[in-house]
Amino acid sequence: MKRILITGALGQIGSELTDELRSMYGNDSVVVSDIRESKDKAKQNGPFEIINTTDAKRINEVVCKYDVGQIYHLASILSANAEKNPQFAWNVNMNSLYNILEIAREKKCSIFTPSSIAAFGPNSPSENTPQDTIQRPTSIYGVTKVAGELLCDYYFQKFGVDVRGVRYPGLVSWKTLPGGGTTDYAVDIYYKAIEKNKYTCFLNEKTSLDMMYMPDAIKASILVMQADPAKLIHRNAFNVTAMSFTPPVLADSIRKYIPEFTMDYDVDPERQGIADSWPDSLDDSAAREQWNWKPDFTLDMMTQDMLANLKKKLQKGE
Ligand code: NAD
Ligand code: SER
Repeated sequence: MKRILITGALGQIGSELTDELRSMYGNDSVVVSDIRESKDKAKQNGPFEIINTTDAKRINEVVCKYDVGQIYHLASILSANAEKNPQFAWNVNMNSLYNILEIAREKKCSIFTPSSIAAFGPNSPSENTPQDTIQRPTSIYGVTKVAGELLCDYYFQKFGVDVRGVRYPGLVSWKTLPGGGTTDYAVDIYYKAIEKNKYTCFLNEKTSLDMMYMPDAIKASILVMQADPAKLIHRNAFNVTAMSFTPPVLADSIRKYIPEFTMDYDVDPERQGIADSWPDSLDDSAAREQWNWKPDFTLDMMTQDMLANLKKKLQKGE
């Protein structure tokens, strides 16, 4: 079997995708890469390579060395960090994707690359946002996501590259911290609920956003790559969601397990502006119809699991 390469694999998604793919295909079959070394080398249980994905030659070396047939391309700069340095974000997000697509074209690799709810903008319908609709995002991150979706479609239509993806909503997880996005509050809140019984939220109480627990995000990423290509009307950037909530609704869910938990607000205008430009709730019926997408976790199931796992992790001092 040809190997799978993951770029940006030490991040919030990659760290959990690595475990799942290695358990499915074996440790040696999944090559993990990132621009930085893992802090915990002891945890590495398979091949690891340093790859800066803006360096096409380096990607090519690793693809040849391990006979890679599939790439999960996760290296990216997320929304809040991207807004601090838009030129840098464009370079990393766009040139990396271009390099990956070119290598896939030459070496006949299949590609998974994620888009985001950030690919929509203030004039997209905000409720039940359709799969195909107006996409005029106002953040640089969103601009790179729409440009990336179009580039992926082009590589499929022009060169037959098997490139697929989903528009992830905000992702909630306990194993690895998020990497500088607008939806990070929905992770941070659980840490502060356990550590201090109190959280100060940087988005206002009316901000409704789509969210998903990490096990469902990993499931979606693998399912879309396993889907029968004959059934795919879309290929890239399927809307997927599991729940949509505002900060007070999330706080209410936490209060079911930590009754003394309280929350106040100190709104960050930059991240609030980004969040306000994104949908309130997505329509993911195309993914449900074309590759049987269905999430497993509801909000309260996620809260229960997050709190149980985070408590153990924090007790161990990890
Ligand atoms: P993350 O920030 O947690 O991880 C990204 C990883 O990429 C980091 O480990 C970082 O070191 C690495 N990286 C950065 N620049 C690099 C470069 N030039 N070369 C190689 N590696 C580099 O991000 P994530 O949350 O795991 O996101 C992965 C993908 O999913 C991204 O495309 C992101 O836009 C998308 N996404 C994430 C979310 C979410 O809520 N986490 C939601 C929607 C879409
Ligand atoms: N969670 C991501 C972010 O906030 C959405 O793409 O940037």
